[in-house]
Order: sequence, then C-alpha cells, then structure tokens
Amino acid sequence: MPNAKAPQAIETNDQASTFLNGKNSLTITDNRTGKQYDMRIENDTIRAMDLRQIKVKDDDFGMMTYDPAFMNTAACKSTITYIDGDKGILRYRGYPIEQLAEKSNFLETAYLIIYGELPTKTENEEWVYNIMTHTLVHENMKKFVDGFHYDAHPMGMLICSVAALSTFYTDAKNIMDPSCRKLQIFRLIGKMPTLAAFAYRHSVGRPYVYPDNDMSYAGNFLNMLLKTTELKYKPNPVLERALDVLFILHADHEQNCSTSAMRNVGSSHVDPFSAAAAATAALYGPLHGGANEAVLNMLDEIRHKNNVPAFIKEVKEGRGRLMGFGHRVYKNYDPRAKVIKHLADEVFEVTGRNPKLDIALELERIALEDEYFIKRKLYPNVDFYSGLIYQAMGFPVEMFPVLFAIGRTPGWVAQWEEMLLDTEQKIARPRQIYLGHDTRDYTMMGKRTQKA
Ligand code: SDX
Repeated sequence: MPNAKAPQAIETNDQASTFLNGKNSLTITDNRTGKQYDMRIENDTIRAMDLRQIKVKDDDFGMMTYDPAFMNTAACKSTITYIDGDKGILRYRGYPIEQLAEKSNFLETAYLIIYGELPTKTENEEWVYNIMTHTLVHENMKKFVDGFHYDAHPMGMLICSVAALSTFYTDAKNIMDPSCRKLQIFRLIGKMPTLAAFAYRHSVGRPYVYPDNDMSYAGNFLNMLLKTTELKYKPNPVLERALDVLFILHADHEQNCSTSAMRNVGSSHVDPFSAAAAATAALYGPLHGGANEAVLNMLDEIRHKNNVPAFIKEVKEGRGRLMGFGHRVYKNYDPRAKVIKHLADEVFEVTGRNPKLDIALELERIALEDEYFIKRKLYPNVDFYSGLIYQAMGFPVEMFPVLFAIGRTPGWVAQWEEMLLDTEQKIARPRQIYLGHDTRDYTMMGKRTQKA
C-alpha cells in the first residue's frame, strides 16, 4: 500500500516559464502613491501575501484581498479532483466521473482518490481487506447511540458518533505518522456505514446489526440497515450496485464547504475523527449535503406537477429556492446529476417508479427554459435526483445527507492528508477588515445611558 503524496503539480511548459521574463507577471500601480509593483503569476493566480508590500505609509499592514465565502480564492494546491464548472466536467485524479461510475466501484475509487492511482489486483485485495476488517465499532458506541432521543436526526447522531471515535482511538493524534494516518483512514471509511446504520436502526427502534465483512461495502451497509431475522441478508444486486455508484459520485468534489471544514479543522493538527465530525456538520446544512433532503421536502410541498408553475413563480419572486438547482462551481449541468438520472431508471425498475419524479422532471423542464434560471446558470446539481432514488430504495429523507457523508469520506480524508503533506500549508487563520469601534474606556453601570 503506497503512502499518499504531497500535491506535486504536473509541471506544464507555460507553468515552468520563469517570472523574470516578465511574461508571467502582473504589474499593479497604486494610484495613491504612483508606485508600481510586479507580482509573479503562478497557475493563473497571484500570491495574496505578495500584495502586502503595497502600502501608503511604511508602517501600514499592507494590502489584503477581501473575498467573503472565498468566491475567488484558491486556499490550496491539489491534484485530487478537477472540476470545469462551465463545461460540466468532473474528474478524480484525471479519470472522468462517467467512466468511474460505469466501470469502477466505490472502494476502488476511494483508493484512487486517496493514493492517486487505480490499484493493482493485489493492492485492491489488500485495500478491501483493510477497510472491511475495520467496520466494527466499540460496543460502547451502542450505549452512546442509545442515548439519543427516539426522533433524533441521524445526521446529528452521525456528527456526534464520528467525533466519539476520537475517544476510542487515541493513537489517531499521531497525524504526522504515515502508518497512523493509514490506519485512521481504514477506520473512518470502514466505520462510517456502521455508524450510519446504527443511527438509522436507533431511529426505527430496531436492534443494531453487526457488519458482515464477506459482503461488498454497499451490500454490507444495506445488511446493517435492513437485516431482520434472516440468517444472512441478501441485498438486491441492482440496489447494491446503485448505492455503490451513488457513493462513487459523491466521493470528492474539490474544495466544497465540508471538505474545506475538514482541511481547516485538520490544519489545527487535531485527530482526523474530530476533523471529519466538523466536515459532517458542514455537510448537514441545507445549502450543501442537506439539499437532497430539502429537494424531497420541496417536492412534497409542490405535491403535483400542475403546481410547478406556481412554485417556480414564487422562486422567481425571491420567496424560496429551487433546491437541488444551482452550484457555486457548475454553471452547466452537474455531470453527476446526469449519471444519477440514468441510474434512477434502473432503480425504479426494481422499486417501482417514484411518482415525485414527474414533479422533478417538470421542474427541470420549466426551469431550463426560464430566463431567470438561464441567466443565473442554474442547472440541476447532484442533489436534485439523488433523493428520488434514495426514497424509492426506502430510505427516510433524514438519511439522505448521511448517505452523502458515507460517499464523501474518502474525499475528506484524501484532502486532509494532502493538506498535512503540503509544506506550504499551516494552521488556517484568515484575516478580517475591522470596521468596529476605535478604542474606548469602560463605563461604570451607573453612568450608562439607555440607547435609543
Ligand atoms: C452540494 O460546493 C460543492 O461542490 C457542493 C457539492 C459537493 O459535491 O460537495 O456539489 C454538493 O452542496 C450541491 C449544492 C446543493 N445545494 C442546493 O441545491 C441548494 C440550492 N442551491 C443554492 O442555494 C445555491 O445554488 C448554492 C448554495 C448551491 C450556490 O450558491 P452560490 O454560488 O452562493 O450562489 P448564490 O446563492 O449567490 O446565487 C446566485 C444567484 C442569486 O440570485 P441573485 O441574488 O443574483 O438575484 O442565483 C440565485 C440566487 O438567488 N440562486 C437560486 C438558486 N441558487 C442560486 N435561485 C433559486 N434557486 C436556487 N437553487
């Protein structure tokens, strides 16, 4: 099993050309002083720290950039996932998502994302063995999950359970030891489905099911969710494959909100379980991984496709969002949504067609023809159709973001490790523009006047 590597960019000719020839530089004139500054351009970016030389007075702090929500800021260099939002392209380590969804499986894709290459047969067998022999959790986790209220949201339970792993595996703090990181990665990928299944079984009042390590990753997850009194659970192969493909599609997505949380929290050198709990919490938000749950709730609210025009009108008047539409990066159709839409047909062959699909298709049809959405480049994203499949497979909507978290775990750990190995990275600590009070003296209670 190889060790992950730091992000070594694959140099291309234009990147290798030097700054000194002046062709790879930006000249900035500060009109306040008339001074000019030459900034090196590298990978079509300038270093924010190079701006600090721009001052009016010598004791000024120097120039910064202001970029709320990091709309136009690269926080890291990475060789893991490439997205071209305008062209609707998504590649893991250079492999198009469409090919991986068709030809690969989730654990092989997880290996690719983490180690950078598709595994050989031997590497894959060792990898699968290592993951599937780390699916059990400490027995005390059952008492921990039992402590939640009967109707606790499974994402709330998952966030807490992932964080709790750090209390059982105290060796996980040795994050700069490659073999320790490897073991924690086995544990996180291996145990996420178990924790997710425990949360689900608690919410439906059924006994916990132990992992069956003879099964596939997705098959074992279905086993832990759905097994009742049979001796050996037999997953439906179509649903098992569909879930595996959905995990592939969710495995990484460069610097999304939850991955940024993993990197930021991980940059404090906390253990990976605590960082993954922060990432899971970020994913819970309805603007991020919680969107697939919000899509189903939206379809329930619309109730019938005849109500779609009225709903679209409300959205255009700013009274709500078309959940599952729009994306910070994709200004074209999310390539994952295309794959999921085809996958839905295969799943519905087995489960029966989800009647809400008619509402979703009508929403898409109208939105893609409407100037409001066209102008804002709003297309279906990964969450628009995934929930329909999950619901048809029998998952309650509250479990949808939990499924997203299982799929995203390889991406989180790969990005976390890339951050740790990147010699340019240190603890994440952004600056601010302070617009508050200047210094002022403490006022005793008796002298404070009621503000208007
Ligand atoms: C995921 O980052 C990732 O990679 C995430 C993800 C991953 O794999 O990790 O791809 C997974 O999170 C997918 C996105 C799931 N979220 C949703 O489906 C929620 C609905 N979508 C949005 O809230 C929104 O599109 C975001 C949050 C996804 C992106 O928002 P941005 O980039 O901050 O865009 P914005 O909110 O500034 O919107 C730009 C304009 C605004 O209109 P104006 O103010 O210019 O008039 O587009 C409008 C927004 O009002 N708009 C929408 C809309 N999304 C944006 N209008 C209606 N419905 C929507 N869904």
